[in-house]
Amino acid sequence: MSSRAIDQLFEAFARHGDSHYGERVSQTAHALQCAEFAARDGADEALVAASLLHDYGHLIEADRLLDPDNPTTDEMHEMLGADALGAIFGPAVVQPIALHVAAKRYLCATEPGYLDGLSAASAHSLVLQGGPFDADQARRFEAMPFAAEAVRLRRYDDQGKIEGGETTRLSDYRDLLLRLALGEGH
Ligand SMILES: [Fe+2]
Repeated sequence: MSSRAIDQLFEAFARHGDSHYGERVSQTAHALQCAEFAARDGADEALVAASLLHDYGHLIEADRLLDPDNPTTDEMHEMLGADALGAIFGPAVVQPIALHVAAKRYLCATEPGYLDGLSAASAHSLVLQGGPFDADQARRFEAMPFAAEAVRLRRYDDQGKIEGGETTRLSDYRDLLLRLALGEGH
């Protein structure tokens, strides 16, 4: 079951991984770069997997959007992805994904200069996503389980937009994903 579930994830990349969503890199290249930054930073396997799959919701969305390269609404891709991945992985993978947009809003509110460093597409989507958190929202975010992991993921997300930067392939992560996939009965 788990093996088939991982196959289906990779099939979604095969269908839509070439889409760019307004960024300079494709979804697949972005995912691979984020996972690589996570691994280089010493992240554990769950956070590497979360980094690889954090925009999985965009791939699901792409099955429904006419023009996935030019999204004009925020479809809450982080929740779409987390919901779908929750059937396969535990919270250490799923929660940083669910919170990676909140982590952007948090960093915009708490880290001077962070907003200025966002890519144009990321700054555009920030508006659709509700803008920077206020002080109360930032405090509530910090108290959430996996908030720190979501902030780490967010930094890999922001870094992983280098044209021609990836050196790994999706299939390189197959064993790691299988190790993390929940067994039958979960
Ligand atoms: Fe991303």
